[in-house]
Amino acid sequence: MESPSTRSHSLEVIDVIEETAEAVSVVFSRPEGETFAYLPGQFLTLRVPGTPEDGTSWAPRCYSLSSTPAVDPHLQVTIKRTAGGYASNWLCDNAKPGLVLESLTPGGRFIVSDDPDELVLLAAGSGITPVLSILRSELTGSSASITLIYANRDRNSIIFDSALAQLEATYPNRLRVTHWLESERGLPDAAGLRSAFPASTITTSAYLCGPTGFMDAAVAAAVAAGIDRARIHREAFASLTTDPFDEPSLAPDSSNDVATVTVTLDGTTATLPWPTEQVLLDTLLAAGLDAPYVCREGNCGGCAFKLLDGEVRMLINDALDDYEIGSGVRLACQSVPCVDEITVEFD
Ligand SMILES: Cc1cc2nc3c(=O)[nH]c(=O)nc-3n(C[C@H](O)[C@H](O)[C@H](O)COP(=O)(O)OP(=O)(O)OC[C@H]3O[C@@H](n4cnc5c(N)ncnc54)[C@H](O)[C@@H]3O)c2cc1C
Ligand code: FES
Repeated sequence: MESPSTRSHSLEVIDVIEETAEAVSVVFSRPEGETFAYLPGQFLTLRVPGTPEDGTSWAPRCYSLSSTPAVDPHLQVTIKRTAGGYASNWLCDNAKPGLVLESLTPGGRFIVSDDPDELVLLAAGSGITPVLSILRSELTGSSASITLIYANRDRNSIIFDSALAQLEATYPNRLRVTHWLESERGLPDAAGLRSAFPASTITTSAYLCGPTGFMDAAVAAAVAAGIDRARIHREAFASLTTDPFDEPSLAPDSSNDVATVTVTLDGTTATLPWPTEQVLLDTLLAAGLDAPYVCREGNCGGCAFKLLDGEVRMLINDALDDYEIGSGVRLACQSVPCVDEITVEFD
């Protein structure tokens, strides 16, 4: 099958693992080379075939990698059925070895960036996928102590139940797993989550992934436990409303004011005019530069860059946390210039 865009790559399914009655892991063979190199916590963007109700013939969806790069030879995503949802149900029903799906390369900013001594990981339902990748990476590659608090409806809906028990048995002095079952305790609340935190949290970082209500309770618990807000990192799951596989339509350059941006991307530096009403991503794509992006909605962090000099304003930011913003990270799909001269760098 011909790839829909130059940014897209074909991935072949080599295994499908039924994790629970509502969730499957889909394992892809990993293409050789660095194209699909990734960090624990990052996601793939898959082009899920079929005929969704909106009349298109595919649906683009992000799925976090539940595999761990230093441990697993393959790429694995884990998908939980969403009631009434299109792509999650299609994948749960149709993924089988031999199926080829189009994917964008891994992206996302839900990665361990602050080298903590202690980690508190909070997940609910399918939110365990990036958290498992981070957990296994930290257990094998660092000496951090880790508390995992994992919320589910009931015992049968726990994804990776036996894998988590095995990790706890292998690392008894470094990993503590607390399961929160709604069937026994009701919906997770801040005070209840807080009670499962370690006693001291001075050097702790928290990583959170789950539905909105759970994340609100988890943030409140982390703050109550004394964790610095800059060390609280979140990943929100939502369906894309734009199609990153399409050739991008760029916002027209209607402004008379123009700043200048010096950008380093893929090891090459260029200086360009940057219209003050245009977001940086559109300016770079219009100039023919291969800038990274996924959602173009300020959600995923796939277009993140480092601001080295100058000032920009972000129109929307649902992806970066305070720690990242404090470190100079910004979103290219949402940044407009505030000063005449700006210098930026993409990793
Ligand atoms: C960075 C990232 C990582 C993610 N990782 C994972 C992961 O690891 N595992 C995972 O399972 N998910 C993950 N997701 C979520 C995933 O991308 C999808 O959002 C999820 O699978 C639901 O997609 P869907 O097509 O099944 O549902 P959709 O078809 O997108 O529907 C979503 C909800 O909206 C409702 N809905 C749909 N259309 C309408 C309408 N017209 N009017 C009103 N309501 C409507 C549906 O009933 C459903 O409840 C991730 C998302 C992001 C952004
Ligand atoms: S491309 Fe997703 S935040 Fe910019």
